[in-house]
Amino acid sequence: MALLSTTPMLEIAKRNKHGIVAFNVHSFDSIFWVLEAADELKSPVILQTTVGTVKSLGAKNIVEVVTAAADHYNIPVGLHLDHCTDFEVIKEAIRAGYTSVMIDASMHPFEENVVKTKQVIDLAKSLGVNVEAELGKVGGVEDDIVVAEEDAQKAVPEECKQFIELTGVPTLAPAIGTAHGIYKGNPDIDFERIAAIAKLVDIPLVLHGGSAVPDEDVHRCVSLGMAKVNVSTELKNAYSEAIRQHFIDEPDSLDPRSYLQKAKEAAKEIAKSKIRMVGSEGKVIPSFL
Ligand code: 13P
Repeated sequence: MALLSTTPMLEIAKRNKHGIVAFNVHSFDSIFWVLEAADELKSPVILQTTVGTVKSLGAKNIVEVVTAAADHYNIPVGLHLDHCTDFEVIKEAIRAGYTSVMIDASMHPFEENVVKTKQVIDLAKSLGVNVEAELGKVGGVEDDIVVAEEDAQKAVPEECKQFIELTGVPTLAPAIGTAHGIYKGNPDIDFERIAAIAKLVDIPLVLHGGSAVPDEDVHRCVSLGMAKVNVSTELKNAYSEAIRQHFIDEPDSLDPRSYLQKAKEAAKEIAKSKIRMVGSEGKVIPSFL
């Protein structure tokens, strides 16, 4: 199937009270096994790349590979640009065929975030491309964006409402206590804040920092309106750990297929568990099948 805008995908998911996982992919092979995992569970899925991945693989190449791979399956697939601060890279991604982009201007004051988000909406909306923005500041490390624990800031519910009215943004990532990367303890998710935001706004919300969040916490977030759940670190860990273990067991191994296959299997298991966690297994609407 052709790639879909993530706006309707996420609106349908929110209406049907399940989430959709957006998996960060960092290599061409990961595109294939994330889609394989989603297809085996008949689940909608979003593939997303950071700016670093766009720079290393090329936006056009990524779109061509994702489009060709998605064509093998009858599941809804969206392609999203994660955490982008650079308008030129956003334009490049949209021109190449990304169906969703994130303008991350959360490091700027509210008014500037509004202006920068509106600039992207003006470009993306007429082309049917989804836009995601962030309010508050999600802590942790994602590519080149580093937010120290003490600088993380939760989103203010009234500001979320005002931001959506001013920009018309179709999806919003409010910082609510999760962080990018693996937590030292359990994340301190502010469920009351999510509920307060969800009371004021009715667009799909986005949960960043989805790795290592207990399943029951994710269920609660999804039930409160978090329709897109981002997962990166756990996939990278599973993939890299399988390769590391392979070379401990077989230090003289030379055939990339042997360790890439192990890495794929390990990461695919994680992908499937995350799809089940957000409740999107079997949630391909019948007309897609
Ligand atoms: P994790 O690396 O914690 O899974 O976060 C991913 C993310 O939110 C990407 O934007």
